Amino acid sequence: MCGIVGYIGPRDATPIILNGLKRLEYRGYDSAGIAVLENSHIEVRRDAGKLNRLVSMVEGAPLSGNLGIGHTRWATHGEPNAKNAHPHIGSTGEVVVVHNGIVENFLELRDELIAEGTTLHSETDSEIIVHLIEKFLSTESDLLSASRKAFSLLKGHHGIVVISSKEPDKIIASRIGNAGGVVFGYGENEMFVASDLPAILEHTRRVSFLETHQIAVVTRDGVEAQTFEGEPVELETENISWDPVAAEKGEYRHFMQKEIHEQVRSITDTISGRVDFEKGKIILPQLNLTKEFANQIDRIILIACGTAYYAAMVGKVLIENIARIPVEVDVASEFRYRDPIINDRTVVIAISQSGETADTLAAMAEGKKRGATLWSIVNAIGSQAMRIADGYISMQTGPEIGVASTKAYSAPLVDQYMLAILLADLREVITEQERRALVEDLRHLPELVGQVLSRENQYMQVAHALKDSLNCIYLGRGINMPTAFEGALKLKEISYIHAEGYPGGEMKHGPIALFDKDLPVVVIATQDQWYDKMISQIEQTKARGAPVIAMATDGDKLIPPLADHVIWIPEVSWMLSPVLTVIPLQILAYHIAAIRGLDVDQPRNLAKSVTVE
Ligand code: G6P
Repeated sequence: MCGIVGYIGPRDATPIILNGLKRLEYRGYDSAGIAVLENSHIEVRRDAGKLNRLVSMVEGAPLSGNLGIGHTRWATHGEPNAKNAHPHIGSTGEVVVVHNGIVENFLELRDELIAEGTTLHSETDSEIIVHLIEKFLSTESDLLSASRKAFSLLKGHHGIVVISSKEPDKIIASRIGNAGGVVFGYGENEMFVASDLPAILEHTRRVSFLETHQIAVVTRDGVEAQTFEGEPVELETENISWDPVAAEKGEYRHFMQKEIHEQVRSITDTISGRVDFEKGKIILPQLNLTKEFANQIDRIILIACGTAYYAAMVGKVLIENIARIPVEVDVASEFRYRDPIINDRTVVIAISQSGETADTLAAMAEGKKRGATLWSIVNAIGSQAMRIADGYISMQTGPEIGVASTKAYSAPLVDQYMLAILLADLREVITEQERRALVEDLRHLPELVGQVLSRENQYMQVAHALKDSLNCIYLGRGINMPTAFEGALKLKEISYIHAEGYPGGEMKHGPIALFDKDLPVVVIATQDQWYDKMISQIEQTKARGAPVIAMATDGDKLIPPLADHVIWIPEVSWMLSPVLTVIPLQILAYHIAAIRGLDVDQPRNLAKSVTVE
């Protein structure tokens, strides 16, 4: 979703901002813009479409200056066109604003401004922010106080960055609620501001983050932050150790393909340091979990959105089976509005790749308000979901750039498996032998993931067979029911083929009416306790003439004569099987979309990090 980059220092701001925006492209956007202070006058360039259009525009009409802000916009109010793109310019041309989030009282504020004689030039809610700042500049002493006054009128969640030609030595930045983060990067006599770390990591590793309801003045020398009430705030700086090269495409055609292939490494890193194979123990120190607390938990609620929600559905099976604690799974956007039953023995666990998904953060806040302990399983280091939790597990997958999530789906499966073992151990509900066996199964997992990935060519053949389908059904059962949902989600997200995942047993209660020769059915029928049932789904599918693509465990004899295509995976314990079964489905979706010539990494209308409700 929307991205922000700002720069103040001795260098030319334009390339720094455009490169920063480039690094945020993965978040999804439909227009982009930049504003630079040139000889006491702010120049703005903005356009609909991809960043290269903005880059050409800037090449045609260059900008030069040492202070600037840029934005990639994902449309909420008003279509993606040049006039709705950010930065928004005030009536005097002195102030410009970039904004992430939704002004929930937009209509009310807009009508007031119009009644006062302001002319608006866009259909966006964001534009009113710049006019409010201008209005308060007539009564307030400086940009900081005018901005603060304007921001305090805004309802909703926001990340806002402002510059003014009248105060050329500063950038104002603020965070209100959860519309993405605001991060500051510290350089030598220069400072960077961004919504996300990847935008600034090539320049500096020393960063600090703004918390909600804080506003900051950024100068070449650093940041001074305060609360909305004017209380100074000490921002803690930290050093980020990621390698920005990890975010480059390398030998792969798309980030998604690269990220699928990174799963051997990400699963290895997920396990590393968290598993003591000798003692058969799990170590998750950031959870701050004591034996006493583990024994108090009477219910766990997993909350997440999109792919992370399907990962949570696998987690329910794992935690209930291994730790014998009742688990509910809820879509974050539903959870907060369903008046959930929570007490101080409830643990709410949020799963989020970005750690900035607005619905997930709001659901966490709801859980906290009602007295739950909050944990999170998060990929983006320093993100809000990591910082507001009482304990967390970091995903260790490195930045995920492709909008369709892949490695950030498989990693939390393993995180939840480890969490389940740790809880079971502390609650003494499994024997040492059982615990050791579960832990031991992790040892071979990266190698098995590698085996699946080495079969990419095999799975590609299935992609060629399915590439022209209009619809597709995925069936799975038990622990691989969510795999069917996730497989279908991957296909629809990036190939735009209509796909639905169904619990195998539900197939006869509706979807079967659709089955005919034009509806391919992908059936996950690996060797586990649901295998016989899945064979019968295959038979029923075949009987209706629908092409069957069956996922089977190496050595299976029953499936090849029944299926039109077989997707083979190596033998694996049933509880860890979702880590393997999802990979061929990711590869399938990837190749179908690539064959269809689609923008795999940035599918239409989707955003990597959804920071609006
Ligand atoms: C968006 C992305 C999905 C992602 C979901 C949840 O919809 O396109 O890939 O699964 O948000 O994101 P999170 O960052 O919370 O895991």
